[in-house]
Amino acid sequence: MAQNNKLWAGRTDGASDRLADDFNTSLPFDCRMFRQDIRGSMAHATMLAAQGIITESDADQIIDGLSSILADLENGSLDFSEGGEDIHMFIEAELTARIGDAGKRLHTARSRNDQVALDIRLYLRDETMTLIGQVRELLSVLTEQAKAHAETIMPGYTHLQRAQPITFGHHLMAYAMMLIRDIERMLDALTRMNYSPLGSCALAGTPYPIDREAVARSLGFDGITLNSLDGVSDRDFVLELNAAFATCMMHLSRLSEELILWASWEFRFVELDDAYSTGSSIMPQKKNPDMAELIRGKTGRVYGNLMALYTTLKGLPLAYNKDMQEDKEAIFDSIDTLKQCLGIAAPMIRTMRVRADNMRAAAAGGFINATDCADYLVTLGVPFREAYKVTGSLVAYCIREKKTLETLTLEEYKAADARFDEGIYDAVNLENCVKRRTSAGGTGKASVEAQIAYVEQFLSEIGA
Ligand code: ARG
Repeated sequence: MAQNNKLWAGRTDGASDRLADDFNTSLPFDCRMFRQDIRGSMAHATMLAAQGIITESDADQIIDGLSSILADLENGSLDFSEGGEDIHMFIEAELTARIGDAGKRLHTARSRNDQVALDIRLYLRDETMTLIGQVRELLSVLTEQAKAHAETIMPGYTHLQRAQPITFGHHLMAYAMMLIRDIERMLDALTRMNYSPLGSCALAGTPYPIDREAVARSLGFDGITLNSLDGVSDRDFVLELNAAFATCMMHLSRLSEELILWASWEFRFVELDDAYSTGSSIMPQKKNPDMAELIRGKTGRVYGNLMALYTTLKGLPLAYNKDMQEDKEAIFDSIDTLKQCLGIAAPMIRTMRVRADNMRAAAAGGFINATDCADYLVTLGVPFREAYKVTGSLVAYCIREKKTLETLTLEEYKAADARFDEGIYDAVNLENCVKRRTSAGGTGKASVEAQIAYVEQFLSEIGA
């Protein structure tokens, strides 16, 4: 049997099975954390030297060695094809191959358990900041479109039935509000996550005189985790971030669903740019919103990852268990998926053609000014319930006679209720219906402008 030359070959010395090695390795997926692993190791080595646990000369060699590994991984002269158990073992073995004995001192007062808990935090922090940047980009695209369509009238829907007139700008700003909450949720999860677990070691801490605070500060954490068992076994932040990503995907999915509907021949409210549409292999007339459908479809993966994470963590005894290695593929897939979807959504929405004429035509049908008709009667002293009934009968009359509230004669109005007067035409005019909704958050122009200003303020406050 081959000698076991693994770094952890302490008690064991029999070689492990090939299939078992393949089953055990996380390198194919955790290799993406190499920058964070190296950053963490540099901070650890610096602290070990500052505390007199290793010599300055060892620390210098370690840091130089790690820098050269980082450079080689970045420029592709070193890759992961040699294999290894995980990114932590890979880098430590490579370091020792490069610098000899000093490399063997790096893992003093540390375990892979606190190392991986550190790396995943650093990685998620970096990736979440990238995702937040992408959400910001989508927010500014929505805001630009909303500005361009602050007066574009469309039907607002409830139950997917035409309900009341709104502007397209108002509709888009609803999604902007969702995306702002998404950013807030991500930042909130980061705040709770931003404590360094390094120094928890395997599970119980260490007798070495380490300085956890110094390491935490140098890596940009707000402090240290306060219980070593929790430090190595906590993955709450993975759940919280995945939940935030899932919610963001849900928002993108709802927006995609609307784009799919709007791009249909039945609505024709928008036309997606050719760059974000596909044709059919058999039906020459087709232009399909595949990108929007894929965003809607991929939402399921991110929900699934969240459930997988919850299930993996359920019932794990303290402290570290290898089950926890399963956290990575799930959260990495959620990150990759959200990144892709945001990357597509922003230009797809920026380049879509808005068919204001079709929106206006749809708004003119469906009696979406019926509430305004009833409200007008109320201004003439009619109790709302009564006004509601009169308007209902007028709508039924219009449907029978193929008319609209705008085209009824005053005689026809008066036949329904003698109190109607000329003012009804101003009341049911769609532009006026929108203009009148000046309440905060409403569809009136000033209100939508205030919403846009809020989003712009938010974007400038959270910085680049
Ligand atoms: N690859 C492992 C993971 O992702 C690293 C920690 C392994 N620790 C251990 N004691 N086996 O969780």
